[in-house]
Amino acid sequence: MNKRVLLINGSTREGGNTDAILKSFMQGVSESGLNVRKAVLRDLAIHNCVGCCKCQKEGKCNFQDDMTELRDMVIKSDVLVFASPIYWCEITGLMKTFIDRLYFFHHKENNHLVAGKKALIITTLGEKDSEYESQVLVEFYKRFFHSLQIDILDMLSYPDLMEKEAITKKPDYTKAAYNAGKKLSRIL
Ligand SMILES: Cc1cc2nc3c(=O)[nH]c(=O)nc-3n(C[C@H](O)[C@H](O)[C@H](O)COP(=O)(O)O)c2cc1C
Repeated sequence: MNKRVLLINGSTREGGNTDAILKSFMQGVSESGLNVRKAVLRDLAIHNCVGCCKCQKEGKCNFQDDMTELRDMVIKSDVLVFASPIYWCEITGLMKTFIDRLYFFHHKENNHLVAGKKALIITTLGEKDSEYESQVLVEFYKRFFHSLQIDILDMLSYPDLMEKEAITKKPDYTKAAYNAGKKLSRIL
């Protein structure tokens, strides 16, 4: 069966740089024959984790919201693509809220539902020095995915995109994202 890829878009800006990068990436993935779906976090109602830790005690989440279906999409996917702009050296609040709710999979009886999956990280950012700006974010992602026993395949970074339409001046970026999507089936 074809591998399934889930794109998770944590950008707050509709029609911004992350949307454009993901559109090209998604086209590449689907042309390579993989099944691809996307979840745009800003269009979903995902409650903040309130730290009740019901997921850690009982293996169940306290909330029934859009995360219920999204968690199921995560379980059914082989590759998870986390795409977010950098906000203050980190991911957006939207992405963090989503990630906090993945604490469900930290429970010993739920971890097997995600352990062994692959992750790919896509980052957009305004500054030019991608390595410097991404230091905190990279460390965070490494620890988070390690905790859930998910392997990071790659981290793709697109710097110098401060304005919303900055991507329109960077055709090489959308081409690179398309090629990365197309390549995904070969590195799985
Ligand atoms: C609140 C906020 C914080 C940001 N912090 C950073 C930052 O720390 N480093 C950086 O390089 N860019 C930063 N940026 C710029 C965004 O990462 C950049 O504009 C990105 O392309 C936005 O993606 P989008 O078009 O999908 O919204 C910040 C933007 C906002 C709105």
